[in-house]
Amino acid sequence: MKTLHALARTKGLLVVAHRGASGTAPENTISAMKKALACGVAMIEIDVRLTKDATIIVFHDSTLDRTTNGTGKVRDFSFQELSRLDAGSWFSEKFAGEKIPLLSDILSLLRGKACVNIEIKPPAKDEDFQKRIDHIAKATLEAEFVDFTLFSSFHHESLKYLNSRHTGFHTAALLPPDDTRLPSQILQETGCGAFVCALDQLSERVSADISRHNIITGVYTVNTEEELRQAEAGKATAIVTNYPERMVQYLRERAT
Ligand code: G3P
Ligand code: CA
Repeated sequence: MKTLHALARTKGLLVVAHRGASGTAPENTISAMKKALACGVAMIEIDVRLTKDATIIVFHDSTLDRTTNGTGKVRDFSFQELSRLDAGSWFSEKFAGEKIPLLSDILSLLRGKACVNIEIKPPAKDEDFQKRIDHIAKATLEAEFVDFTLFSSFHHESLKYLNSRHTGFHTAALLPPDDTRLPSQILQETGCGAFVCALDQLSERVSADISRHNIITGVYTVNTEEELRQAEAGKATAIVTNYPERMVQYLRERAT
């Protein structure tokens, strides 16, 4: 498995599986990770949140309702309570009984196979974001996964804090909606080494700045060949996709 440093030096577009292979398996589950690994992607993006008892789980929404058979806020439940939920049936009965994974489960699965992009969700208003970052950083250090982890967030204060506490951590700033700052300005202000934006945020102005400053840039969500072309024209270094199998195939066919 390549370190992030080595990946950044690799020529060609990097395919990142968004919440695992979330187009064909329930997002952020072990099944979605296994499917993404089977395509041979070098990086998988996941979302993390903390439970009531400060356990780090892999989960996108702040509430349970969309992707489990539970209801209510994730942070109001302990991990033991959440581990009883079904996180697969909402997607398809084929995935009934799928569990919400721990961050540690995912890192164990990815070890030796792929890098991870851990997206740290913005904290709730009354949440201590620094404490949250400390937990996540500690888990990554303990798993000896720092060289293989890219941390990203829309919450730039979290990234600034992470960068101030640790050297050698890799961070990427996500472009918040309606933020008109250029990537170079955001990287300067946050101390991050990479930039991530949505495909519809990749304007000519943004692309020109990426080119001018040679910025490592991820673009999401890129699910079709046309979107792939748009991302490449916009100077993307990496594409974040729900269909890694499809994107890997397009790129393979194009190379032959
Ligand atoms: O990596 C970018 C993307 O994951 C950010 O948005 O909502 O899919 O977590 P979201
Ligand atoms: Ca995400």
